[in-house]
Amino acid sequence: MSKHKYQLIAAQLRSLIDLGKYPQGSKLPAHRELAKELGTTAVTVAKAYQLLVEQGSIESFVGRGSYVSSQYLQGVIRAQQSDKQLNFSILQPCLQQNMPVLKQLFKQKISALENPQLFDYSENSGLLEHRRAGASWCAQYGLEVSSPEQLILTNGAQNALASIIALYSNQGDYIALEAQTYPGILAICKYLGRKVLPIAMDEQGMLPEALTEQCEICKPSMVIVVPSQQNPTAATMGQVRREALAKVIAQQDIWLVEDEIYAFLNTEKIAAISNFVAEKAFYISSLSKAISPGMRCGYLRVPQSQYSKVVDYIRATLWLPSPFMFEIASAMIDSGNAFRAAAQQKKTAAHRQQLVTRYLSAYKLQRQRSSYSCWLHLPANWQADSFTASAKKQGLLVSSAAYFNSGGQAANAVRLSVMAIADEVDFIQGLEQLAALLALHNTEP
Ligand SMILES: Cc1ncc(COP(=O)(O)O)c(C=O)c1O
Repeated sequence: MSKHKYQLIAAQLRSLIDLGKYPQGSKLPAHRELAKELGTTAVTVAKAYQLLVEQGSIESFVGRGSYVSSQYLQGVIRAQQSDKQLNFSILQPCLQQNMPVLKQLFKQKISALENPQLFDYSENSGLLEHRRAGASWCAQYGLEVSSPEQLILTNGAQNALASIIALYSNQGDYIALEAQTYPGILAICKYLGRKVLPIAMDEQGMLPEALTEQCEICKPSMVIVVPSQQNPTAATMGQVRREALAKVIAQQDIWLVEDEIYAFLNTEKIAAISNFVAEKAFYISSLSKAISPGMRCGYLRVPQSQYSKVVDYIRATLWLPSPFMFEIASAMIDSGNAFRAAAQQKKTAAHRQQLVTRYLSAYKLQRQRSSYSCWLHLPANWQADSFTASAKKQGLLVSSAAYFNSGGQAANAVRLSVMAIADEVDFIQGLEQLAALLALHNTEP
């Protein structure tokens, strides 16, 4: 059966997308414009676009046009689809290590359930004792918290990020971000219609002078940084850089969103940037990376003056995250188990990084001693996307740099998670396979 014209146009567009003529996130021509170019009608083009929407290749928005799907999160955060796959893609703790203590706590709490508040609409931003525990967690890794009342409980760090972006910027505003950043932030900006303003980085993360320059040109509403073990580059800001950035934030009078979800992996405690600009800063942490991503326990510290506004928003959008989960989280923090688990995960990460050195030291690797990830710069003859696709064919899931790019030319690199593969023998096998794949095209001296 011969194909309809709209199907042929859709196939043609699909191959142009694959060839990179229309990169991820880019806008496709308007129906009328493309129809004129192809000598057809706008209705036929509309049908072709509709087919591409159904296939997941593009997304259409009323009044804004059609865009090539970015699949930010699906592409990066790949859940294992089969036992044969080795997952170097997702950033999570080695869950097996935390399971015994979590299982014991859940059992204990369920059998001794007496507190009806855990099943009630609790007040505003969560129960005070849960916020107190959150304050201890954040303080342990560098935040000065003057009172637990400043802390709000959220459904993970992601919920905190989305809430602050929604509340403190408007559609069309610029949001300043590290040039390579966590795709979850890019996804929020995309869905809320915020413009991304990439800021240059070095091995310590965002450059304060580059932020000043871009603030003067584009006037962003806020800057979002991941100062410790940054996702994806593992860049970590030292104290001097943090203070310099705080100065720019104060001078430019913009909001700071400080995502310190990986601070527990730092070799030593480093003061949060928020400490220096407390009234301009939103500080975010969560237990996802040290304890369990599935518990969705996030902590958000807000400027005193903004507390009611943020609480009101959280209440309007999700009312409150599950108190039961925070009961478990608080028991872990108050007993010290959470800090011990975090230290154990950090030790595992350091050991895994040593294994990475053993197999991949011929290549440029960006990471810290105990990072959860490693930013692997590819030899010139390997392109990040084709390396990612070839690795996938061998059952190795890695994340291409394209997913982290907030603007400009993406690095020719992939991010490797060192923690998602539970078994060390499997992890080593994956590293051996990656080394062999890299060597295939490594023509560099
Ligand atoms: C920098 C950063 N922030 C936030 C998150 C999401 O954290 P949560 O699971 O607490 O929502 C991630 C997850 O990968 C991350 O890397």
